[in-house]
Amino acid sequence: MPVITNIYDLKRLHKRRTPKMFYDYCESGSWTEQTFRENVTDFDKIRLRQRIAVNMEGRSTATQMIGQDVAMPVALAPVGLTGMQRADGEIKAARAAEKFGVPFTLSTMSICSIEDVAENTEKPFWFQVYTLKDDDFMRRLLDRAKDANCSAIVITVDLQIMGQRHKDLKNGLSAPPKLTPKSIADMVTKVAWGLEMLGTKRRFFGNIVGHAKGVTDPSSLSSWTAEAFDPALDWDRIATLRRMWDGKVILKGILDVEDAKRAAEIGADAIVVSNHGGRQLDGALSSIRMLEQIVEAVGDKVEVHLDSGIRSGQDVLKAVAMGAKGTYIGRAFVHGLGAMGEAGVTKALEVIHKELDVSMALCGRRDIKEVDRDILLVPEDFAGRWA
Ligand SMILES: Cc1cc2nc3c(=O)[nH]c(=O)nc-3n(C[C@H](O)[C@H](O)[C@H](O)COP(=O)(O)O)c2cc1C
Repeated sequence: MPVITNIYDLKRLHKRRTPKMFYDYCESGSWTEQTFRENVTDFDKIRLRQRIAVNMEGRSTATQMIGQDVAMPVALAPVGLTGMQRADGEIKAARAAEKFGVPFTLSTMSICSIEDVAENTEKPFWFQVYTLKDDDFMRRLLDRAKDANCSAIVITVDLQIMGQRHKDLKNGLSAPPKLTPKSIADMVTKVAWGLEMLGTKRRFFGNIVGHAKGVTDPSSLSSWTAEAFDPALDWDRIATLRRMWDGKVILKGILDVEDAKRAAEIGADAIVVSNHGGRQLDGALSSIRMLEQIVEAVGDKVEVHLDSGIRSGQDVLKAVAMGAKGTYIGRAFVHGLGAMGEAGVTKALEVIHKELDVSMALCGRRDIKEVDRDILLVPEDFAGRWA
């Protein structure tokens, strides 16, 4: 059993144990991957202020996200095809999250369906929807989420059309994977993955196949995906989608102050400052660089969350200190899942929690709710001066 001390240990195991097509799907950004890289490296530019002689007993990382109690301000981000990283991956990740006491967000493009995840977990989870053209399908998705007792809807607003990730095209990404000499040669080296996959019936897009019109077999799915997203999306449509759900709504994929203001106006309960993990507009600024100005503009009107680039508890601490009320991890939990299944997701959460807790203490704070900008040393030009 390898000793896991950080997320990168899990990443190495994920790479070794998962077919290349799915590891690459996770570990890539669009085009040159500049934004994907900078999401991570920009966190490193922020430093922490070491303080001493502060009582460190009785610490707490517990807080709330959209009024829901969380063991730490970290949720699992919606990640498509999670059930291809490991058999029944969404169920495993959701179970790890609920045991840990953090929210799990199920992607529309999951392998396990909403109903499957609900049947195999105890607590309500969040459901992410893309902005699709088909109103009927959208309503049915939301009805299914309501029936499954989902406690919030996350509307992803930064993927009207899809950013290109070169590796997915080169690998011929599909779910389930197409059997070609190349993919077979790769999969025979991932024995445990293959045996687990053979043991489950969940190998297709569970929320789509059999639910969306015209998609009765998986081979028509890729064309449905290309056609289903709504390139004509505008703020009126987002407002309509917001009204379709009478509970909490989180708008995910805001990276601009003006967009954040519009999101607050239409009554979102939270926004996620996000560039989709660097998978959409390559060349956009990292989320952490944009965070402070967005918090300044709308932080008193709407809860501001952040994702993209979080690989450690220190990253979470930095985002919280800059005003985020919550954060999300995408790749960090997927590395755990690909490495060790449910136990790996738990490990990822434990690693992040420990890093967060110890760093917070060494910055002289005992309660995450007391963490503020004062614990940081941020380069003066961090947000950048852009004309
Ligand atoms: C493999 C992968 C699949 C993703 N699928 C979705 C998705 O289905 N829906 C969505 O809103 N975001 C999706 N995202 C974006 C994540 O929700 C999140 O914004 C991103 O992973 C955060 O960056 P991080 O991976 O650096 O933590 C995906 C990200 C990855 C890495």
